[in-house]
Amino acid sequence: MVDGYGRVIDYLRVSVTDRCNLRCIYCMPEEGVRPAGRHEILSYEEITELAGVLARLGIRSIRLTGGEPLVRSKLFLLVKMLKQVPGIERVTLTTNGVLLEKAMGELAEAGIDGINISLDTLNAEVYEQITRRTGLRSVLRGIRSAMGYPDIPLKINCVPMGIPGQDAAAVAGLAKDQAIHVRFIEMMPIGQGKQFTPKKEKGLLEELQLRYGKCEACEEELGNGPGHYYSFPGFAGKIGFISPVSHQFCGSCNRIRLTAQGFLKTCLQYEEGADLRRLLRAGAGAEELFRAAEDAIRRKPECHRFGREPGHGGETHMMSQIGG
Ligand code: GTP
Ligand code: 5AD
Ligand code: SF4
Repeated sequence: MVDGYGRVIDYLRVSVTDRCNLRCIYCMPEEGVRPAGRHEILSYEEITELAGVLARLGIRSIRLTGGEPLVRSKLFLLVKMLKQVPGIERVTLTTNGVLLEKAMGELAEAGIDGINISLDTLNAEVYEQITRRTGLRSVLRGIRSAMGYPDIPLKINCVPMGIPGQDAAAVAGLAKDQAIHVRFIEMMPIGQGKQFTPKKEKGLLEELQLRYGKCEACEEELGNGPGHYYSFPGFAGKIGFISPVSHQFCGSCNRIRLTAQGFLKTCLQYEEGADLRRLLRAGAGAEELFRAAEDAIRRKPECHRFGREPGHGGETHMMSQIGG
């Protein structure tokens, strides 16, 4: 459907859990966040029912996020269920990769259409510093396992922080010999992210060109999200940037979010939207849910105000509770 600012909304990000097996410093406090109770979280059946309603409103692509989606048991079953919803053309996953190696076969079999893996560094010590956990080797095994399915597009998400030894340029190197796209995500001032100064795209792009040669902007669309991409000489994959602060992309925003607790969230930075779980569990039928979602989408905020006070309705949740 088209929102109040003329944007076509066809992409839904579904957070399937607020739990995570890592504690990334820009995402969660060290002690974690009190997780929602089991019954507060939507069941796979409930997610599928809501996806059916949202597909009638024009959603074509669904991305599963968390927390860490693979900590929820048998996620592949949800992939299978969503793939059968009329109108849904693509179901993709964003994961930290720690549990990917084991899950990969079932996800592929269920028909997953793409996987984005968060990996901020190739240095084991820095990985522990950022995620407050060990796990780099598991992530690398997960990536290798996913590469065994060449029909499933893979992207790496890296949040460059300028931590000594992070070496974001080395992460970009993963796209050299393999058809994996590597994207750099500008730190967003949400939750713990407020404590960090975003590293600017411009500086990093210069650093990458010094290391890998002059790049060219790439027009090809590689997914549903806000990334823009460059080709580097001799690279099999592309290098992308998601720069919400320095290159605001709200004017072409195509997405809404469903939190693990069933709140339809219409912008990353605001708590606006509709409590679909409340309606669903109160016995609302498809028409009532449809109208509630339609009304929320029509009122989707125009843009984020990162760096400025969002004012009334500003997001107070952690990124792990929103799903990025
Ligand atoms: P594809 O382009 O389909 O591969 O997916 P994507 O980039 O939308 O998904 P992914 O989960 O990999 O998201 C990458 C980063 O983009 C995450 O850090 C998200 O928080 C960020 N992102 C996605 N949508 C938005 C948005 O609407 N606003 C902002 N500010 N950031 C977003
Ligand atoms: N700013 C930018 N990206 C973030 N992510 C989590 N928190 C933030 C933040 N404050 C990223 C993760 C993951 C993706 C889903 O969101 O690193 O790649
Ligand atoms: Fe977990 Fe992702 Fe948050 Fe890291 S950024 S703690 S992997 S949800």
